Amino acid sequence: MTHHKRLLVIGNWKMNLDYVEAVHLGQQLGVLMKNKPVEHTDVVVAPPFVDLRSVTSIVESERIPVEIASQHVNANDNGAHTGEISVSMLKRLNVKWILIGHSERRSMYAMNDDVVATTLRSVTRAGVQAVLCVGEPTEVRHAGEHEAYVTAQLTSALEGLDEKSRELVSVAYEPIWAIGTGETATSQVVSEMMAHIRSVLEHVSCAHARVLYGGSVNADNASSLVLEGGVDGFLVGGASLKAESFMSIVQTCDDCYDGKR
Ligand code: PGA
Repeated sequence: MTHHKRLLVIGNWKMNLDYVEAVHLGQQLGVLMKNKPVEHTDVVVAPPFVDLRSVTSIVESERIPVEIASQHVNANDNGAHTGEISVSMLKRLNVKWILIGHSERRSMYAMNDDVVATTLRSVTRAGVQAVLCVGEPTEVRHAGEHEAYVTAQLTSALEGLDEKSRELVSVAYEPIWAIGTGETATSQVVSEMMAHIRSVLEHVSCAHARVLYGGSVNADNASSLVLEGGVDGFLVGGASLKAESFMSIVQTCDDCYDGKR
């Protein structure tokens, strides 16, 4: 049976926008989405923790067709973890998605492959959708080791995951050299990595997972990344902070949907 995947675009607001600004952006997204509804694309935003409550309220009360993600979570259920947040706390706020192992968490906040694997298990066990972020640094790309690097990140997180949990996984390929640099990976580079990631996913029985690209995505490069790069959507940082630029990426993605993936 062919399984047609919808596209998925996630806005990662990172440590930007206080709750007043976040509500404003949520409302602007609502207006744009009502003017031009999307058909084939799931739209998700990932605000900072302290904005989650306000953004979920606005999205629910104004029936904005956007789901909410958290940028991070602690793998433990509760207890002595000062400054951390648990999956159940996020679920209670109607958070449907959680980003796991973003490169900024890996490089600055000690999130190694073991922590990523444990976190992925707590998230999926709770029935929440996990977005596993992977991607190589510049020196690894220059050494030609990028495929092996990404394989190791994927297998350490996904191998041995039970079937129900595997259903809840999406992957975001974000080469570190492309994040926030304006240096987007070419469609060719992305297309090769998509093929590689999909073969690894098949190996770990996760072939259904959507594979996104992230790293300096904007309205101008989005269509070639979908059409030639073969991505199932995007994880967008900088360009997700303005309603117009984020929605034009979403619209471009939606327009490129051909039902073939
Ligand atoms: P960017 O960030 O779009 O600003 O490059 C992407 C990300 O880190 O998710």
